[in-house]
Amino acid sequence: MKQAEIREKFTSFFQEHNHHKVLSAPLVPARDPSLLFTNAGMNQFKSVFLQHETRDYKRAVSIQKCMRVSGKHNDFDEVGRTAFHHTFFEMMGNFSFGDYFKERAIEYAWELLTQSYGFDPERLWVSVFREDDEAYRIWEKRIGVPAARILRLDEDDNFWQMGDTGPCGPCSEVHFDRGEAFGPMDFIANPSRFVEIWNLVFMQFSRDASGDLSPLPAPSIDTGMGMERLASLLQGVSGNYETDLFQPIIKSAAQLVNVDPGKPENRIPLNVVADHIRALTFLISDGVLPSNDGRGYVLRRILRRASRHGRTMGQDSPFLHRLSQSVITTMKPFYPELEFSSDFISRVILSEEERFNQTLARGLKRFDELLNVALENPEKKIPGKDLFKLSDTYGFPLDFAVDLAREKDVAIDYDGFKASLEHQRNLSRSNRQAHGQAAPLEGITSLSTTFSGYDGLEDSAIVTGIYVDNAPAESVGADETENLILVFDRSPFYAEGGGQVGDIGTGHSQEAYFEITDTRKAAGGAFLHHARLLRGEISTGNRMRLQVNREHRKDTAVHHTSTHLLHAALRETLGLHVKQAGSYVGPEKLRFDFTHYQALTEKEITAIEIMVNQKIRENTQISSRVEEYETAISQGALAFFDEKYSDVVRVITVEDFSTELCGGTHLEATGEIGIFKIISESSISSGIRRIEALSGGPAFAHIQFQLHQIQKLQHYFHQLPEHIVDHLVNLDQKVRKLKRKLESLVTRQNKPDIEKTVAKSRRIGNAEAIVEFFGDLDRKQLSNLADELKKRIQGLAILFANVNGKSAITISVSRELTDTVSANDLIREVSGILDGSGGGRPDFAQAGGNRIEEFSPIRDRVLEILKNRLQ
Ligand code: SER
Repeated sequence: MKQAEIREKFTSFFQEHNHHKVLSAPLVPARDPSLLFTNAGMNQFKSVFLQHETRDYKRAVSIQKCMRVSGKHNDFDEVGRTAFHHTFFEMMGNFSFGDYFKERAIEYAWELLTQSYGFDPERLWVSVFREDDEAYRIWEKRIGVPAARILRLDEDDNFWQMGDTGPCGPCSEVHFDRGEAFGPMDFIANPSRFVEIWNLVFMQFSRDASGDLSPLPAPSIDTGMGMERLASLLQGVSGNYETDLFQPIIKSAAQLVNVDPGKPENRIPLNVVADHIRALTFLISDGVLPSNDGRGYVLRRILRRASRHGRTMGQDSPFLHRLSQSVITTMKPFYPELEFSSDFISRVILSEEERFNQTLARGLKRFDELLNVALENPEKKIPGKDLFKLSDTYGFPLDFAVDLAREKDVAIDYDGFKASLEHQRNLSRSNRQAHGQAAPLEGITSLSTTFSGYDGLEDSAIVTGIYVDNAPAESVGADETENLILVFDRSPFYAEGGGQVGDIGTGHSQEAYFEITDTRKAAGGAFLHHARLLRGEISTGNRMRLQVNREHRKDTAVHHTSTHLLHAALRETLGLHVKQAGSYVGPEKLRFDFTHYQALTEKEITAIEIMVNQKIRENTQISSRVEEYETAISQGALAFFDEKYSDVVRVITVEDFSTELCGGTHLEATGEIGIFKIISESSISSGIRRIEALSGGPAFAHIQFQLHQIQKLQHYFHQLPEHIVDHLVNLDQKVRKLKRKLESLVTRQNKPDIEKTVAKSRRIGNAEAIVEFFGDLDRKQLSNLADELKKRIQGLAILFANVNGKSAITISVSRELTDTVSANDLIREVSGILDGSGGGRPDFAQAGGNRIEEFSPIRDRVLEILKNRLQ
């Protein structure tokens, strides 16, 4: 059964049983700091299970892209060695949100496995949570699985939780018996005979940060079945890598690195490469880029491990970037979006492969140092701490180190390495927790606010919540205006989101008057109006008139609509790999971050500006509609990967040009933007560019200012604007030329007079000595001078000058004298006078030291030294 059929059978089975088909969420979880990557089908439904959010269906089916790089079965360093585990994989799942529960979930699973997929019921085993008699009974009585094939297991195996916190519950797993060839039929003593295929989680609890369980509002179902494993069983092969999901990739990899995939020594490296290139391709397509922390760091480690396994097959130069194409070909029938980013993905991978090669070269140097130190200590061991640093800072892989150390009979301190690793993991875990959770306002999740500001800027609303210094209050007076937050049942104020800043404005009743300085959204959906009470008193239950600041809103809308035009123009000009990676939309400017690999050329920037301004002049209508997420996406609407969308989304369209999911506030027609101007383009991290731009009033003000500057130049230089640049370039060249001329004149003038200097030489013992200071000479002049003097006298020249705030010393000794006094020895002593150091040959040496302010004491000391040495 080919993968396409396996997928199709799964989704259509559940669709026939009234499940709503939901697309895979991106690998980057939407606004969930508790999670590095999407790791299960249920992630995107977390808040539905918790009933923080409702959908208009109660049953869903999905095939979800997942990433796991740590955990009980997902030791990153083991991936590729085992037959059934991966970093990237797909999880097929069906879900019930307070609808059916254990019995129906078990029935569905059994029917699909034994009837649609045709598994032999005799070869299926099941496990339930130790105390779950109900599930046990259903399997035994309702389904008819013999008790001998039902196991009761502990929390470790049969209690599922997404992370340290969140929805969780007991689960029941279905396992496949691989048969005689895999040893005795004993689940406990010989687990490797069995493969776990499906996990049915009976979601019943929510775990909070202190570890306590509280019951979920409605018992629910979350199931997950690994696509790759199921395929391996249905295709009758011995492991996931033998399936049609991996084979085409493994074959291309073998071809690229020119090895025989049939040879046993190539099996693991090829598996690793195939697993990792899938992860890399999907991660980059979902917007993750290599970096030194978080998701980007995981990406980097995956690439490095793959590259290292390439090396074990003799492949030292970059090759992974070419292999991503094979992943795209295999997967694009199910993930058409991969194709759009194909070029981008391969460029990101290539540049990271090149970078790794450099890193490796650097790491090897450092590793050699560690090795040499270890060779000298009696234990002949490299400390784990150093090794961890090497792998962490230099990205030098541990296995590399192990292999190289083994060659020299040096041991590795694994325990120390693990301890350092653990220490760092704890650190990043607590960082994540610390950053993820700001303390919520008490009782805020029970409040909600209806947004009424798409069509109007005014509304009348009832105060439902008051917070003073983040503590709930029944009422507030004008003397307590610091840090005041007001919540209303409805509001025309836009709450910050989707990059757009929150609205500002005012509110009043007959008794009270207040300013609203910002509007934010709380986790549960209520709008937090940050306010300053200027007059009167406010109590919950009061009715207020709310009024959004018109100008602020309008200028923000100007920039928001411009952002959509810019996004579309970027994709049109640079390619469809361009994806939004972040944005800021305010009244004064816009900022747009997007994926692209190199700096934009002037020509590209100009083309984009022209295109956007063209759209502005066409004065196209902007329309908004509300529709199902899937419909919108399948019709090509752009979504921002880091944003969490609900099922029903708002779609903003600029006819024939741009369609985006967006909750923000926009103009009615593009002409209201007036004018658009890019003011900067830069890189913010590898693979992400940032454009800042102005529209409307701010753009006009900017252009006016710039033109004004040109006007000033025009007046000062008496030039026409079109001649100013040439004029200034000419001037600049002239100035440079004059400067060079001047410098050479000064040098000539400063040139010391050889005759006079020779005349000042004095005899010490049998030698002539010249000890002189020449002010500001450079080193070259100084050493030329020393050479010249040496030819004129039989003896030595010790010359000083000041260069760039320091002193320079040159000593030149004629050959006949070098046995008596060596320049090299002499310079150490002489430079010591100026706290300096230097060296050279017996006949010539140079040094630097402190700047010379007064020479005569220095001369006296040098003469002293010479007397000691020569007499
Ligand atoms: N959440 C469960 C798992 O990941 C079932 O989908 O195994």
